[in-house]
Amino acid sequence: MSAEEIAIEKLTLNGIAEDDDIVDPWNVHSKNDAGIDYDKLIKRFGSSKIDEELLARFEKLTGRKPHHWLRRGIFFSHRDLNIILNMYEQGKPFYLYTGRGPSSESMHLGHLIPFMFCKWLQEVFDVPQVIQLTDDEKAIWKDLTIEDAIKMSYNNAKDIIACGFDLRKTFIFSDLEHIGSNPAFYQNMIRIQRCVTFNQVKGIFGFGDSDPIAKISFPPTQAAPAFSSSFPFIFTNAKVNCLIPCAIDQDPYFRMSRDVAPRIGFPKPALLHSIFFPALQGPKTKMSASESNSAIFLNDSAKQIKNKINKHAFSGGQTTVEEHRRLGGNCEVDISYQWLTFFLEDDERLEQLRKGYTAGEILTGELKKELIEVLQPLVAAHQDRRSKVTDEVVKQYMSPRDLGFIPQK
Ligand code: TYM
Repeated sequence: MSAEEIAIEKLTLNGIAEDDDIVDPWNVHSKNDAGIDYDKLIKRFGSSKIDEELLARFEKLTGRKPHHWLRRGIFFSHRDLNIILNMYEQGKPFYLYTGRGPSSESMHLGHLIPFMFCKWLQEVFDVPQVIQLTDDEKAIWKDLTIEDAIKMSYNNAKDIIACGFDLRKTFIFSDLEHIGSNPAFYQNMIRIQRCVTFNQVKGIFGFGDSDPIAKISFPPTQAAPAFSSSFPFIFTNAKVNCLIPCAIDQDPYFRMSRDVAPRIGFPKPALLHSIFFPALQGPKTKMSASESNSAIFLNDSAKQIKNKINKHAFSGGQTTVEEHRRLGGNCEVDISYQWLTFFLEDDERLEQLRKGYTAGEILTGELKKELIEVLQPLVAAHQDRRSKVTDEVVKQYMSPRDLGFIPQK
């Protein structure tokens, strides 16, 4: 048994221990003030750490400096990235897959992470990207009407397109609209469903006897896009490897997909996991669309951004200026600093801020000001790009079509 298989069996049989962080697709919470212990999570989930050696190989093969989210450990864990790099080295194709459960009118800053990263990977590797909008999942979990869930898919698709995906190589789809007209997708769902028992799905996802069967049967819907034959108009029948970038909360779906893959004759999908963009209130939990005060939304105004940060961003500073100057601040828990590690690209400036804040030379208010100055233009630029995404443009991204991709036999 591999380390991954042992970890999966343990997770399925024993669930989580009392002092473990809670990390699943619906809940992210740590008891620790410094937030989730990601090294422990790697061991528990049986994934692998992204280390210097892997990053050096990435740089050597692609000729591109790894994205600052890779260099800074924001994408920190993977499954089989080496296999994807081998394929790239041998000139063999692969594709990217990620998704969004459209539960709010607008996405938040945390949701940008996988999409901005995929857009960068698409550029680096020049590969097709499929993006699943699980409006079915949200209709099941959030008690939305089917019609409203589909509307949210279209709304969120605009935010996703505004990240800059190449129309010629990107297919975005709403589950509720697309699956019914794509028999190959449905057939793969059934192949996957046949391989997973009720016991397994309970162990992996924590479903109980009173959960609606819609929840119990949903995971294969999120697994199906990891198998290329679900998209015959892109890949014909070829078995093309898949790479899935996402935050680590989505891993249960893909532990299941990897377990099923060889049994339905497909390569296991590879994964790149990110840490969570934390809530304004502190690193114990992730930014969440259902807690509006925890999040900066992509449709927030410059003023709202400023007010939310000034009012709610958890401070790692001391209670008085004198004490702060004497004892220094704690970057590990300070939300302004943590957010800057995601969105301030300048390594030197970030290091200056870290040193200055830790030494007490920089105050929390100054860090907040720096963060506001980074985020306001970033969100405004996003809003500007989004305003240019018309319904017609959305339709183009969402129509099933040949992406000009030549599959391997
Ligand atoms: P959803 O809509 O909850 O989240 C969309 C993507 O954003 C990531 N994410 C975050 N990343 C960093 N910090 C955060 N605070 C944060 N919150 C969310 C999620 O990990 C996800 O990658 N069931 C999925 C939709 C889906 C999907 C997929 C996601 C369908 N197929 C394939 C990833 C890969 C969902 O509801 O994601």
